[in-house]
Amino acid sequence: MTSQVLVIGSANADLVVPVDRRPGGGETVLGGDTILSPGGKGANTAVAAARLGADVALLGAVGDDPYGELLKRSLAESGVDTGSLRTSERPTGIAYITVTPDGENSILVSPGANSALRPEDVDLDGAEIVVLSLEIPLETVEHAVAKAVETGVKTLLNLSPAAELSAKTLKGLDVLLVNEHEAAFLLGGEADFPKLLDLGPKAAVVTLGAKGAAVVTADGVTEVPSPKVEAVDTTGAGDAFAGALATSLAKGEELADAARKAVKVAAITVTRQGAQPSYPTASELE
Ligand code: RIB
Ligand code: NA
Repeated sequence: MTSQVLVIGSANADLVVPVDRRPGGGETVLGGDTILSPGGKGANTAVAAARLGADVALLGAVGDDPYGELLKRSLAESGVDTGSLRTSERPTGIAYITVTPDGENSILVSPGANSALRPEDVDLDGAEIVVLSLEIPLETVEHAVAKAVETGVKTLLNLSPAAELSAKTLKGLDVLLVNEHEAAFLLGGEADFPKLLDLGPKAAVVTLGAKGAAVVTADGVTEVPSPKVEAVDTTGAGDAFAGALATSLAKGEELADAARKAVKVAAITVTRQGAQPSYPTASELE
């Protein structure tokens, strides 16, 4: 079955521990009770898009274990097509997450089954737009972009976690989505966002946390401010942004309008605990 939005990416079980501060090397710190919730940049993006009403499928891999079941349940309950979700012999990916009182997180990912997603698994299946993030093997991502270019499918890539992509892949992107750190990674420490287009993508969107986002096209930079909110947990806000952006782009909306909606969606997610559990529905956006 063809879905308009195809997300190719990771699915992880998130083990979230509230902490006052993060441990340093060789140090032990006591935190609060562990919260288990469905996550992973790919699954998060797919769930965010589905909650906003997109017709979306996730191409990914989980293990044959209870965490895999947790993810399948969350995806299915949100309306994501899981027909292309593979079950691997490797364990489901796990993200070990600490969240400090200011809502900031740090994340250690054990990819497990996500590493088993190979280029030969990629089937774009008539999608309108393919959305990628980087917790799966890079060769799989690069193959998917090449296939999308060949077949005229729109591409949106969330450069998270930051990694070096080939010039060919960057050139194949309709939209490159980065946060400020990832932009600096690509620009050798600079914050000169228009230069992102010199790397090859047709357009770029830079998320700026509480400040909103900047949309970069050949016509210039458009600033999209964020509503002021009290951040509780920023985990997965960027993934929700990607899902919202893809939902609007699949409908043919302009990039700046899509970014305006995505900023609103991300602002809602940071006021609530967790990644997927914090994602709003279309009606909540009104
Ligand atoms: O972007 C947030 C996500 O990163 C978490 O859900 C975690 O699983 C890691 O993939
Ligand atoms: Na959240």
